[in-house]
Amino acid sequence: MPNADRAWVTDVQVCPSILAADFGAFRSQVRELLDAGARTFHVDVMDGHFVPVITFGHGVVEAIAGDVHERGGALAVHLMVEQPERFVSDFAKAGADAYTVHVEATVHLHRTLQLVREAGMVPGVTLNPATPVGLLVEAAREADNLLCMSVNPGWGGQSFIPASLDRVRQLRELARPGAGVEIDGGVGPETIAGAVRAGANRLTAGSAIYAAPEPGEAYRDLVERVRAAGPPGGA
Ligand code: DX5
Ligand code: ZN
Repeated sequence: MPNADRAWVTDVQVCPSILAADFGAFRSQVRELLDAGARTFHVDVMDGHFVPVITFGHGVVEAIAGDVHERGGALAVHLMVEQPERFVSDFAKAGADAYTVHVEATVHLHRTLQLVREAGMVPGVTLNPATPVGLLVEAAREADNLLCMSVNPGWGGQSFIPASLDRVRQLRELARPGAGVEIDGGVGPETIAGAVRAGANRLTAGSAIYAAPEPGEAYRDLVERVRAAGPPGGA
């Protein structure tokens, strides 16, 4: 059980997504955000099938895991790939701490979540914006992270889909005690507080952080907005 005992489900965190980082400088861009206070990094893995884009695989996790773990941080992998069960062991060995899969991408979701837990990672499940939240009723019993996609997966820099707030509320209802609710896509200064108030405790942001002139400052600004929004689910 390498890293699954980290405070995954109870804390409120802004999680930088390295999809928006400079692909030639992952290590230094992660260190910059570690210095700014970030502890959970979101890693978007895309396979060119489930979504049209290819990004990167477990090698990138391996490259940054040492720095992140040394500072008490965690790596949350978001698998936008078909049959994500095929890669559980690669990512666990590489140092991933959480492994979130799409309900649309795996036939045997229950078994996949069990595999993830057995591999020592936090099991998470997510769904596309047009997939009914109710499809996760059973999976939510096995998952410690319920991720609401607030854009269609595949690209950073898209606009937040407003209906996602209602979906976050539904996911919070489904979440078993102690499970986290994450929101991913279009999260930035204008949208982050609403997501917290709807019940999200993991706020993933890519371009709002890494496309900003000063990523560390942009991160701290988001953290401040999260604090000001009050406890998750407060409205
Ligand atoms: C989109 C990814 C997101 C992406 C979000 O498919 O799942 O994690 O990094 O990027 P922004 O924050 O720019 O919308
Ligand atoms: Zn993502």
